[in-house]
Amino acid sequence: MTTSTESRFVGDPSRLRPQIDIRERVQPEYHQKEIDRVFRRGWLLLAATVDLKENNSFIVREVAPLKTSLIVARGADGDLRAFHNTCRHRANRLLAPDAKGSAPGFACGFHGWTYATDGRLTAVPDRGSFTALDEANLGLIPVHAEEWEGLVFVNFAARPEMTLAEWLGVLHGQYRGHFAGKVRVATYRIQPATNWNVAINAFGEGYHAGFLHKKTVPNYQGGKTNPNRHRPYLEVTPHHGRYTAQGNPDREQPAVEALSYRLGRQLYPSYANYRSEGLTLPLGLNPAHIEQWLQDVLEVFPHVVMLIGAHWHALLWFWPIDAGHTDIRVEFFAYPAKTVGDHMAHAHFRARLREVFREDISTMEAITRQLQSGALQYINLSQQELLVQQHYAAVATMVDGAPGKARP
Ligand code: FES
Ligand SMILES: [Fe+2]
Repeated sequence: MTTSTESRFVGDPSRLRPQIDIRERVQPEYHQKEIDRVFRRGWLLLAATVDLKENNSFIVREVAPLKTSLIVARGADGDLRAFHNTCRHRANRLLAPDAKGSAPGFACGFHGWTYATDGRLTAVPDRGSFTALDEANLGLIPVHAEEWEGLVFVNFAARPEMTLAEWLGVLHGQYRGHFAGKVRVATYRIQPATNWNVAINAFGEGYHAGFLHKKTVPNYQGGKTNPNRHRPYLEVTPHHGRYTAQGNPDREQPAVEALSYRLGRQLYPSYANYRSEGLTLPLGLNPAHIEQWLQDVLEVFPHVVMLIGAHWHALLWFWPIDAGHTDIRVEFFAYPAKTVGDHMAHAHFRARLREVFREDISTMEAITRQLQSGALQYINLSQQELLVQQHYAAVATMVDGAPGKARP
């Protein structure tokens, strides 16, 4: 165990750049390349499978960058599959955005063509009036889908360049079972006028915590031993990045939080329950084994951030709509509440995180507008903003075939 505030850096830093040539990256031309070379090629974290436990259950998710919506369904055979939410007759959207439920199949509202949860076309009203219908080849249009730790990933390539396990790399075996057994306690959706890179970057560092969040969470982090809120552990992989945030051991709990967590089980910060409950964390969590473990932050490239604690996690999606708009979805998960006190703990946690997110979102539109003016060519990043460096290097590697030039 260590309480050091020295940062440990893991991974290959040779691709990372402390200055990012940002000007063209927020323009529509570059954005189109991001769509074609990142979002059409990579594995994309689409949804948690919390609504897909039973056979014949299904959900619908919008995928803004590909201008489509997908149905994810668990078939009667138990397999999880993803399909474009598009009827094979005349392309009507089969299910409403964000629909979810359980049914043996889906009937189109336009003319009643019906599909099973494994995608097969099973009924065509007035079949005799069609002269050339090949039903066997008129199932729903599939998209590659794979499950990992209760999350479903999709890939829009005709033939993905790598498996999901290869895409995840070292992360693949390191979170085993940790997300299981949690329930979704809140969801939010907002579509601000921000570039998606700017949006996701807001969660790639803790440098801003003492400034932007000084009113909502003034002292979760920092304190006498780590006033600059340095991350004790930062890691980059070929696609993804993660860091551990350290809690402030001298923090005094506000009265409402103390009451919530006296009556219900603690959620945030993670260190008190993590230590007192003797919890064994999977390899990927708190890899430096710091005692004051606040939370981990994992960027699941390209467009998702996971905040992960002992008894909770949050999924934040940043789906690009265009170069200047992003579809942000947030889902919080926590232990199932068994008592009134647990519900209070959930409520406190939800309210606190929501306020912090509002502050994070508040900077995104202003930054995007200033960048689109073209006045600024480079942004300057510290070693503590390593995940921001990593994000831009990973995008450039897929878009341009190289991580980007160092500043001349
Ligand atoms: S468009 Fe779906 S049945 Fe006609
Ligand atoms: Fe923040």
